[in-house]
Amino acid sequence: MSITYFEKERIFKLDTPNTSYMIGLVDEENFVGHIYYGKRLAGHEAGYLMRTQEPPFVPSKNNRERCSFYDCFPFEYPTGGLGDYRDSCFSLRTANGNVGSSLSYVSHKIYGGKPALEGLPATFGEADTCDTLELICEDKHAGIEYVLIYTAFKDTDAITRSVRIRNIGNEPFYLTKVYSACIDMDNKDFDMITLHGSWARERHIQRKTLGFGMQGATSFRGKSSHQNHPFLALVTKNTTQETGEVYAMNFVYSGNFCAQAEVSQFDSVRMAMGIHTENFCWKLECGKSFQAPEVVMVYSATGLDGMTTAFHRLYKKHLIRGEYKDKKRPILINNWEATYFNFDTEKLLSIAREASKLGIEMLVMDDGWFGKRNSDNCALGDWYVNEDKLQGGLKYLVDEVNKLGMKFGIWFEPEMISPDSDLYREHPDWAIAIPGRKATESRQQYVLDLSRPEIVDYVYERVASVLRSANIEYVKWDMNRELTDLGSYCLPADRQGELYHRYVLAVYELQDRLTKEFPHLLLENCSGGGARFDPGMLYFSPQIWCSDDADAIERLSIQEGTALIYPLSTMGAHVADCPNHTVGRVTPFETRGIVALAGTFGYELDVTKIPQADRDMIPEQVAMYHKYNDLVRQGDYYRIASYSENHQYDCWEVVSEDKKEALVTYVQVLNRPNFKSRRIYLKELDANKLYRIEGEEAVYSGELLMYAGLQVPNPWGDFQARLIHLIEA
Ligand code: DGJ
Repeated sequence: MSITYFEKERIFKLDTPNTSYMIGLVDEENFVGHIYYGKRLAGHEAGYLMRTQEPPFVPSKNNRERCSFYDCFPFEYPTGGLGDYRDSCFSLRTANGNVGSSLSYVSHKIYGGKPALEGLPATFGEADTCDTLELICEDKHAGIEYVLIYTAFKDTDAITRSVRIRNIGNEPFYLTKVYSACIDMDNKDFDMITLHGSWARERHIQRKTLGFGMQGATSFRGKSSHQNHPFLALVTKNTTQETGEVYAMNFVYSGNFCAQAEVSQFDSVRMAMGIHTENFCWKLECGKSFQAPEVVMVYSATGLDGMTTAFHRLYKKHLIRGEYKDKKRPILINNWEATYFNFDTEKLLSIAREASKLGIEMLVMDDGWFGKRNSDNCALGDWYVNEDKLQGGLKYLVDEVNKLGMKFGIWFEPEMISPDSDLYREHPDWAIAIPGRKATESRQQYVLDLSRPEIVDYVYERVASVLRSANIEYVKWDMNRELTDLGSYCLPADRQGELYHRYVLAVYELQDRLTKEFPHLLLENCSGGGARFDPGMLYFSPQIWCSDDADAIERLSIQEGTALIYPLSTMGAHVADCPNHTVGRVTPFETRGIVALAGTFGYELDVTKIPQADRDMIPEQVAMYHKYNDLVRQGDYYRIASYSENHQYDCWEVVSEDKKEALVTYVQVLNRPNFKSRRIYLKELDANKLYRIEGEEAVYSGELLMYAGLQVPNPWGDFQARLIHLIEA
C-alpha cells in the first residue's frame, strides 16, 4: 500500500515513487492538518510539525485564542467563517441565511485503486497502480459531511484530490464555494508560475515573485480560457529546468476555475484550486451530494523537468482513453485556412485527391457544411447538410474521400446557437440569456442552455445522426465563445447559480455519450484555437487543437507552455500556409513541418495552390512523421532552451523510455552575425551508451552529449530548424 495510517501518531502518509504527503489529526476536535509534502521520507515521525504544544495552537488547551488557531493552523481543507481569515476552500449559506462551517475527522477508508467521480472526468487507475484514502469528516452543526479523497500513484509522482459534500442535515443548504484542493505550507521564498495568453497566443509561461496577499490565475468565462490556465506552480527561487523544488496543481475541469496562492501575515502559503465562486451557488437537498472536480498535485525536487515528466506520464497512462490512447493519429488535412466558408464537394475532393497522392491520410471538413452557413454569422444549431454546397450529399463526399484511401473527419460546434438559425427561430428560449434582456452576442452567436436535458438530447441526436449517416472517423468539436448573460429560462430562481457548472457537466455528458456510441471515433477538442485545452477535455479527446495560430515561431512559445504540462501527443499542430494567416510571417515550409512534428501533425492549407517546392516536401514530411511519431508520442520530453527566454533559439528533446533513441529539435529564430555554432546540452540519455547521429559517422557517449554538449552548426538564416536523431550505436 502506498498509503498508511499510523494510529498512534494519528498520521496518514501517502507515498509516490519520489514524494511523500502527510496529514495529521489534531486535538480532541479532530482537526485535519497538513504536515508535509515533499521528497519521499522513509519515516513518518513528523507530528511535531503540527506545533500542538505551542499555544495558541490547540483550542482544547487555549480556547480563548481559538481565532488565532484558526487563522494560522495548516488546514487540509479550510472551511470559512469562524476565524480563519485566509481565503477558505468552502462556504455555504443555510436556508435561514447563516454562513460559517468547520470540519472534523470522523473516520477513514484506505483501499486499492481509484473511484470514478460521478459525472466528471478524472484520472483512473487500478490497485496495481494507485491507492486511495477517503477522509470522512463532518460539521455536525451545519449538517455537512465532507469526504476528502486522495489518490497516490505508484508509477508516477502525482497525487490527486477531490472533495464530495453531502447534506446530512434536515434542511437544504446552498454551497457558495467548494474548492477541490489546498496545501497550507511554509513559504520557501517561492516564485509563482502560471500560463497566460489570448486568442492565438495561448499558454505562455509567466514566472514572478510570490508576494504577500492573494495572487493566481482565474477564469469565469465558462471555460478554462485562452487568457488563463487551470494550473499553478510554486517554485523555489533556485528552480530551473533541472533543479529546485516545484509544487504544482492542475485542474481536471473545463469551466470556471480559481488557482490561487495566498501568503499570510505569518509567511505561510495557502495554495488552492477549485471552481471559481463567480455566480456559483449550488442548492444541496437533504441526503444529496455534490462532487467537486479533481486536482492533480505534483511535487518535484528536480525542477520543472521533474514536474513535466510526472504530468506527462500521469496523463498518458491515467487520463487519456480510447482507441487512440497509444496509437499514431492519421495525418490530416483541414480545409479551414484553405477555403474558410468558400467550398463545395468538388473543391474538397480536389484537395483530397492531391493530398492522398502526397501521403496525407484524412480530410477534415471544417466549419460551413450545414444550414445556410456561408459566413460565421448564422446557422449554428442547424446541423443539416447544405446540399447546395455538398452536392450529392455528405455520404457521397465521404465515400469519394474513402475511395482515395483517406479517412474523413467533420467539424461541429454543438454547444452553440446563432440568432439567425432555424433552431433559434423555433426555440428562442434555448439560448443562455437573462430572461427579458437581449443577450450579448459574440461571433454573432449565443450559447445553448445545456442545463436543460431536452436541449442536450437534441444536440446529441443532431451530431450523432450526422455521424451515423456516413463513414466519419474524426470529429473536431469546437466552442467559439464565452458564456455571458448567465440565465436559464428553466432553472428555478434558487438554482440559477448552478448554470455554469451544469453547463460543463452537460458538455461532459455529451462527449461521454458520443465516445460510447462511436468508440472508434478520433475526437479532437477545440475552442477558438486552444481556449479549452485542459485535462477535463483530454479525458474525452486524446488531442486538442492547440491554437489558431499555426505560425511556426508563435507556436514555439505556445507549444512550450502547453508541453510544460501536457504530453506532445495531445497537441494539435498543423503546417499552415504563408504568409501566415494570423501574423503574416513567412517561414520555411521545412521549419513549419519540424515544429508541427512536436504535436499531432497535419496540414491546414490548400494543397492544390501552395508552391510546387512546398508540395514536393510533403511526402518527406509524411515519412518523417511515420518515422518519429512513436518516439514523439511515447518518449519523455525535455526542454533544453526556450526562445521566450533567450530570444534567439528554441530547443527540445524527446528520449525513448529505454534511452536507445532521442530526437532533438533545434529552431534558430534569429541568426546572428559572426556566429558559427552553438553548444547544446542533451538530457536524460544513458551516460554509458554510445550514440550515433543519424546521417553522420561519428559516435558520442551519452555522458559527453549531456555534460560536454553537442555542437549545432549555425543553420544560416532566420526561422531555420534542424532535427537531430540520435540512435544507440
Ligand atoms: C475556430 C477554430 O479554432 C478554427 O480552427 C476553425 O475551426 C474555426 N473555429 C471555424 O469556425
